[in-house]
Amino acid sequence: MKHTKIIDLLTGKALLHEVKAKGWVKTFRNNQFIALNDGSTINNIQCVVDLDKFPAELLKKIHTGAAISVRGTLIESRGAGQNVEIQVENLKVYGESNPEEYPIQPKKHSLEFLRENAHLRIRTNIFGAIMRVRSTLSYAVHKYFQDNGFFYFNAPIITGSDAEGAGEMFKVTNFNLNKLPRTEEGAVDFSEDFFGKATNLTVSGQLEAETYAMALGSVYTFGPTFRAENSNTSRHLAEFWMIEPEVAFNKLADNMDLAEDFIKYVINYTLEKCQDDLAFLEKRLQEEEKNKPQAERSEMSLLEKLRFITENNFKRVSYTEAIDILKASKPNKNKKFNYIIEEWGADLQSEHERYLVEKHFKCPVILFDYPADIKAFYMRMNEDGKTVRAMDILFPGIGEIVGGSEREERYDVLLDKIESMGIDKEELWWYLDTRKFGTAPHSGFGLGFERLVLFVTGMTNIRDVIPFPRTPQNAAF
Ligand code: 4AD
Ligand code: MG
Repeated sequence: MKHTKIIDLLTGKALLHEVKAKGWVKTFRNNQFIALNDGSTINNIQCVVDLDKFPAELLKKIHTGAAISVRGTLIESRGAGQNVEIQVENLKVYGESNPEEYPIQPKKHSLEFLRENAHLRIRTNIFGAIMRVRSTLSYAVHKYFQDNGFFYFNAPIITGSDAEGAGEMFKVTNFNLNKLPRTEEGAVDFSEDFFGKATNLTVSGQLEAETYAMALGSVYTFGPTFRAENSNTSRHLAEFWMIEPEVAFNKLADNMDLAEDFIKYVINYTLEKCQDDLAFLEKRLQEEEKNKPQAERSEMSLLEKLRFITENNFKRVSYTEAIDILKASKPNKNKKFNYIIEEWGADLQSEHERYLVEKHFKCPVILFDYPADIKAFYMRMNEDGKTVRAMDILFPGIGEIVGGSEREERYDVLLDKIESMGIDKEELWWYLDTRKFGTAPHSGFGLGFERLVLFVTGMTNIRDVIPFPRTPQNAAF
């Protein structure tokens, strides 16, 4: 007999039928009630065991974490807490789980402890909920773009270029590191390396995506990206997933419209598909809030926050306006910011971004027209000669969630910029070609997938929304 997923058993359609379920024991109460979970839903199915029917030897093997199979009749439950339960007639234990050793006990564990057991933390309710939401969000990403005429484009992971020009790259080599070939000048001779040149893991698929947008019109990437920035924060990973749409003929305003529509869609989709998981995460957050001082408590619950995003317009504000607001702000005047905003041109830190979103506008903000000096080389120069058509989307509790721009499509202007920023133009010959042959206005953006998952799940540390986080000093598992 084939087993049925617990999510389907819980609908009760198979009532009074013989059913089989397989999963892991969450709890075994009074030597009679097994709460069984198979990952298909956050909800367990109750399996009722008649003590006299099974040898004590067998029942002794049933502990939290054990993998079992049960067969029996699906009946209406008389107990509170569930509608249906399985009256067990047959029970098989696949794998025991010694309670003396199994780290995941039926109690609340700290997130720090669970991070150290990242291979087992998925067996907790909270990580089950987070990772199902993450999976649904990824599906929604593909669905949005596929339904709107975009083509999925796979950018290379190994590349010779540094799209963001920030030099935060992991090197890729198959050299024997103890015996590096050297040039006559003593530098490492990359011509002898696997690719015949220095290569690294990509920080962004954008530059390659642009070449495809110049033929397919609308494309998007959704893949891993890597940054060797040594930021040990709750919002940075060394390996994270990024979604990067790129659209021919889109100007900056179209780019903002696309980003806003896209974010609202994926959140709405998840609100609809992940009701049980989100309800669990919301409740968890409410309990966390109770331990906080009144002043720090959030005004909205998780679901209210998500609906607020989908139902309200993002506020669009120029960098220049934002600087004026920040300069006049209380934390700036009282020197409460770690970085005081003195003048136009300053790079915004996450404390400033969060002030704008959480204190001033109280809604998501799209900041645009940043100073050219603090942004990447590929952004289109405005007529004022000092700002570029950049846009960052700032979210409450997160700060920057999206970074994007209209691209510099004019060959000469782009070449000047590359040279003035000291970027190796030989490395970018193919990118420059797109501006030589049939160049056209185009725009795109990058959304950090984990930052989106953080926001939707209400979690606060990015290490808890990716299965196996890579951060400075940490690449276990
Ligand atoms: O702003 P960024 O650096 O933009 C780009 O990479 C552009 N090439 C995107 C484009 O226009 N196609 O990164 C985009 C987003 C950020 O807004 C943030 O959400 C996320 O990627 N991000 C990170 N997420 C986790 N860990 C990190 N270290 C991140 N760095 C950036
Ligand atoms: Mg950015």
